[in-house]
Amino acid sequence: MKLRGTKDFYGDCEELFSKVEDISKRVFNSFKYSRVRFPLIENSNLFERVLSSSDVVNKELYSFRDRSDREISLVPEGTAPTARLVLENGLAPCKLFYISPFFRYDRPQKGRYRQFHQLGAELIGYSSIYSDLEILILFDQIMKSFSIEGKFKINFLGSQESRDRYTEYLRNSVSNRDVCSDCKRRIKQNVLRILDCKVDSFDDLKSIEEFLSDEDREKYNKICQMAKERGIVLEKSNIIRGLDYYTGIVFEYEYNGVVLGAGGRYDNLYSEIGKKALPSTGFAIGIERLLDNIVLVNKKKSSVRVIAVNDSCREKAFNLCIMLRKSGIETDFSLKKENIKSQLSKDGYKYALIIGQDEIENNEVTLRDMENSSQKRVSIEKIVEILNV
Ligand code: HAM
Repeated sequence: MKLRGTKDFYGDCEELFSKVEDISKRVFNSFKYSRVRFPLIENSNLFERVLSSSDVVNKELYSFRDRSDREISLVPEGTAPTARLVLENGLAPCKLFYISPFFRYDRPQKGRYRQFHQLGAELIGYSSIYSDLEILILFDQIMKSFSIEGKFKINFLGSQESRDRYTEYLRNSVSNRDVCSDCKRRIKQNVLRILDCKVDSFDDLKSIEEFLSDEDREKYNKICQMAKERGIVLEKSNIIRGLDYYTGIVFEYEYNGVVLGAGGRYDNLYSEIGKKALPSTGFAIGIERLLDNIVLVNKKKSSVRVIAVNDSCREKAFNLCIMLRKSGIETDFSLKKENIKSQLSKDGYKYALIIGQDEIENNEVTLRDMENSSQKRVSIEKIVEILNV
């Protein structure tokens, strides 16, 4: 039995997954992002340092001690391992993307797994509003390449001074409230996170926007306005996001009532891991959630099944199969003895190429269109040309 919260990929679902990888890679490349692959295990303190108050570290980290008594974790997200990779290899400034599995001890349910996959982008070493815009536009372009037209819920966590003012207001406002044990911890560690609480409601509290400096507010409005002018659908909201490292804009992308991906600016993460600050911004999209929301439009149908009428024609059919594959045509053939009816009943082929004694004698095959069952005889020499049209 597979582990709870894990998922097998095969057949159409695997095909769709590969397509998602191919299409998103093309979009990342068009924005000049290059791919990174980090290990799936890291020192636990990488995540403990930068995500100390998050559920990801406090409740969901898969950690273990290895045989040398090191505290190791399976990667729960990609921003921190990418930062470690960038610092150790001196890559900044850089534009990177990853497609990787991640692990979180989450409560399994639809769209929530313990091993899941993300495709993510990190734009490292840039602070201009153009970098935030690029990240929003890149995210949006990936979604549009899958014909998904959702909406960004966006907020701005502002400069340290703005956040300090808001933090002080939140602490004063909730200090006498009876809150859940998680919020007690959040109040101490990162009070902003109480706003994500699923148990306590803080709807009566003011939003951070009221505490932003004029400069922050101007920047926030400018990003929203420029994004909207470029066709991005967004709505201001009071989201804080569950990860500690965010500083400027934060956003979640909603489609059909599901959050498909999220991200934001994180200007302090690099100084927490390394020696100097590197202003950065990025996002990650959940591949399982994306797969649940896309349809395989042009389901592959151009492939061919070569069918031998009887056993004496099998070798010829096998040779034809080899020839077609060499020409790049997706071809399959029955590896076990099967009658024609059963061979013709296989799904997923646009054409059947039938070879019987008569065809062999005339150096021909019977080409059957599986969609409308029409068939005609064609010469073997012409078959590649015909199938490639
Ligand atoms: P996140 O919001 O934790 O952000 O995850 C991003 C997306 O990953 C979610 O919106 C969701 O689609 C998917 N996801 C998260 N957890 C699960 C799960 N248990 N099962 C299935 N899908 C899941 C981050 O991970 C940040 N590192 C994003 C980021 C990159 N921010 C800046 N750069």
